[in-house]
Amino acid sequence: MPSRRSLLLGGVALGGAAALLSMRPSKLGAGGHNNYFTNLNNVLRRNGEGRPTMIIDLDALDHNIQEVSRALRGRDLRIVAKSVPSTSLIDYVSNLAGSNKLMAFHEPFLGAMGNQQSDILFGKPMPLAAAAKFYDRPALKSFDPTTQLQWLIDTPERLVQYSSLAKTKNLRMRINIELDVGLHRGGVHDPIILQQMLQIIEETPQLTFDGLMGYDPHVVKMPELIVGQQEEFQQVQQRYQSMLDVALSSRVSRRDTKNITLNAAGSPTYTLWGDVEGIANELSIGSGFVKPLDFDLPSLSNHRPALYIATPVLKSFAGTWTAGADWVGQAQSLWDPNRARTIFVYGGYWQAKPVSPEGLVSNPLFGRSSNQEMLNASDAVDVKVDDYVFYRPTQSESVMLQFGEILGIREGQIEYRWDPFAWA
Ligand SMILES: Cc1ncc(COP(=O)(O)O)c(C=O)c1O
Repeated sequence: MPSRRSLLLGGVALGGAAALLSMRPSKLGAGGHNNYFTNLNNVLRRNGEGRPTMIIDLDALDHNIQEVSRALRGRDLRIVAKSVPSTSLIDYVSNLAGSNKLMAFHEPFLGAMGNQQSDILFGKPMPLAAAAKFYDRPALKSFDPTTQLQWLIDTPERLVQYSSLAKTKNLRMRINIELDVGLHRGGVHDPIILQQMLQIIEETPQLTFDGLMGYDPHVVKMPELIVGQQEEFQQVQQRYQSMLDVALSSRVSRRDTKNITLNAAGSPTYTLWGDVEGIANELSIGSGFVKPLDFDLPSLSNHRPALYIATPVLKSFAGTWTAGADWVGQAQSLWDPNRARTIFVYGGYWQAKPVSPEGLVSNPLFGRSSNQEMLNASDAVDVKVDDYVFYRPTQSESVMLQFGEILGIREGQIEYRWDPFAWA
C-alpha cells in the first residue's frame, strides 16, 4: 500500500515509479475533497441539478472585481463580454466595478448586451455581413448604435466595405481602428495605412473616427527567454503612442484624447498599465474576473479562481478496467497507485482540468468521452456515487456557454442562477 503522500499528483498522470517519488501533501476531507470543495459538494448534493453545472464562487468573483478596481488607477474599465458571457453576470460585475463599457466579439450577443447605458466596442473586426445583419434586425429598444456602438476596423479594404454599407443604408457608424502593437494578429502598424484610413473616414460623412484599440497579451505570454517582458511592454507603448500621434494630427480626430476611445490591454496585461502615464484611457478585462486555468499567470497572482464545472459521479469502484484487455487496466492500477480507482462522471472532455479531488486523471487507454468520462485516482480518493467532482475550465468564453444556468454560490447557498448568452 503506497503512502498517502505519494498518491496525490495534482492531475498529472505519472508512472508508478515517478508517482512514488512525488511528495505532495494535502489535507483531505470526505471523499478526497478539501474543505472548500467539500462545502461546494454539499451545496450541490443538497440543491444541485444532478448534471454538469457551471458554478461561480461569488466571494472569489467579488475579490477579483476589487483587485481590478484597485489596479485601474483612474482609467476606465471595459468589460470583455465574451469572457463573462451572461447578461446578469455582466450586470453584477458592471455594478460592483462601476462601468457600463463592454467589449463585444459576436454580433448575436449584441441583443443581450445593448441597453440604455451600455457603451459597446467590438474587440474584433466583424465581416461586413455580420454588421449588415445587425442593422437588418429590429432595432434594439433603448440602445442607439449611432452613439453607443463602435465597429472595429483593421484594414483600409474593410473600411471601404463599411463606408459603402453606411452610404447605401444611410447609417451613422462609429469607427475604431485596430492597431498592431506587437501581437501581430492583424491591425494597423504602418502610419501611412492609418493616414489612408483616416482619410477614408474623412471622405465618408456617415462615418466618425472614435478611437484606437491595441491588444497586447503577448507581452506576458511569451517566454521571458524569447521576449524580455519589460522591453516588449515599452515597445508596445511606443507603437501605440506613435499611431496615436498620427491619429491626433488628422482632421477627423477631435485632437483631444478625452473624446476618443483609446483601448488597451486584456486581463494578462492590465496590471502593467497601472504604472503608465497617458496613452490608453481604458483597459479591457474579462477573464480576470473568473480566472480560468489559462490565466494562472504571475500578472494575475492576486486574482482567485472563481469558475468551476461541477459534475456528479455516476460510478466509482476499485481498480482500472480496460475494455477488451482487462489485464492492461489491472496492470495500470497495480503499477500506478494513482490509477487504483476508477470514477465515471456525468459528461466530460471539456476544455477543463479536474482539480478536486486532487489527483484525478483521465485514462489514455480508455480514451476521452463527452458522455461519461473515465477518471482514475488513488485510493485516497473515495468520492461516492452522487458526489460531485470539480474541474477548472481552461478558458471561460466558450465553456461558460455549454451548461445552461450558471450558479452563483456564496456561503453554502446558491445565490444566483444566471443564464449564459445564446450563441445564435
Ligand atoms: C481585443 C481584446 N481585448 C481584450 C481581450 C481580453 O480579454 P480577457 O480579459 O478575457 O483576456 C481580448 C481577448 O481575447 C481581446 O481579443
